[in-house]
Amino acid sequence: MRIAVLGGDGFCGWPCALNLSAAGHEIVIVDNLSRRRIDAELGAGSLTPIAAPEERLAAWRELSGREIALERIDVAREYERLAALLREWSPAAIVHYAEQRAAPYSMKSASHKRYTVDNNVGATHNVLAAMVESGVDAHLVHLGTMGVYGYGAHRGATVPEGYLEIEVPLPDGTRFAERILHPSDPGSVYHMTKVLDQHLFYFYCKNDGLRVTDLHQGVVWGTHTEHTARDERLVNRFDYDGDYGTVLNRFLVEAAVGYPITVHGSGGQTRAFIHLRDSVRCVQLALENPPPADGKARIFNQMTEAHRVRELAAKVARLTGAPIEHVVNPRKEAPENELRADHRCLVDLGLKATTLDDGLMEEVVAVARRYAHRCDKSKIPSVSAWTRERARALAWRRE
Ligand SMILES: NC(=O)c1ccc[n+]([C@@H]2O[C@H](COP(=O)([O-])OP(=O)(O)OC[C@H]3O[C@@H](n4cnc5c(N)ncnc54)[C@H](O)[C@@H]3O)[C@@H](O)[C@H]2O)c1
Repeated sequence: MRIAVLGGDGFCGWPCALNLSAAGHEIVIVDNLSRRRIDAELGAGSLTPIAAPEERLAAWRELSGREIALERIDVAREYERLAALLREWSPAAIVHYAEQRAAPYSMKSASHKRYTVDNNVGATHNVLAAMVESGVDAHLVHLGTMGVYGYGAHRGATVPEGYLEIEVPLPDGTRFAERILHPSDPGSVYHMTKVLDQHLFYFYCKNDGLRVTDLHQGVVWGTHTEHTARDERLVNRFDYDGDYGTVLNRFLVEAAVGYPITVHGSGGQTRAFIHLRDSVRCVQLALENPPPADGKARIFNQMTEAHRVRELAAKVARLTGAPIEHVVNPRKEAPENELRADHRCLVDLGLKATTLDDGLMEEVVAVARRYAHRCDKSKIPSVSAWTRERARALAWRRE
């Protein structure tokens, strides 16, 4: 089928585009390359040397015999170009990765907060409005986050896949059953944009009968998929800096380059995780099994396991012999939390989970060691503070 992959130059989007192309689909990547520009802004590039978009695509053509097209469109700001693409190309599905995805980056300053909201909400709304205006009957698959549920207030309850069954009391003492979007509790401006996205999907499914799957994804770890590993020119980006490096990948890079494993606070935070290979597979499963146009967005929790941060650090320390250092937490978040989440839907569709124990942490360490000479250790600490009080605590610690 024809599939537009918005944000297909990024960490998750690139391996997804290759996977779908290898599966025989016709792919156009739509990306404004903003993530590459943010590398320049932060002075912290991918640990792996990613090739220019055209070089990547030429390498894929040479190796697979398959063509992937590229459209440089800003999905948040170039509405007319996006709508024209949908009209002319008429995709059967759209995968939407095109958002600013780092919580620390979204909390750096007022301008970063405003950019993240404008970019992410603008991009999602433009896609939805363009789908309605063009009349294209596409299935939209969006990458959201497990962070929309928040990490504090569940008191040990299992987080359902998007919707909560509740009973609403009536004045006469009777009750009726209702299925509502699970209450949200975002922990950063970035997470808040994903909450706003959810409500946009809710409205457009109800009003226009669009078909949407919102994948509430856990933290993605790993770097290679079978396709990105085929050739150096296809190498995937690998972020390790304090803004874009996600927790497990950062620990593995720290250990590989001789930096202590930096745990925020007590490390009692529990988060959901998924390997990049499974992330790519989940998107394919969602595309191959589209939902009916029943007026509701379909929501899956796209994760395979949950871990406490200090336990992850200990695992990486055991694997590599690296020391662990507890540092001031720049984030405002619960220092300890439990996380139990239902994630049966994708398993029922055929996902076979790749877990931390499957030997792939060693693969990430090997990749990090191979490119260790490209690591700028001064970019490793996470210095983006959520509040003034957190910024003061960080500054005091540095003095
Ligand atoms: N990486 C993770 O651990 C993780 C976890 C949960 C959810 N997600 C979600 O998955 C998606 C992809 O994440 P990623 O890690 O690949 O991020 P990324 O930053 O590597 O990729 C995002 C891509 O989107 C592009 N983009 C951003 N704004 C755009 C715009 N306005 N127009 C066109 N292109 C635009 C960027 O240039 C980049 O290539 C994001 O929406 C993110 O929220 C990622």
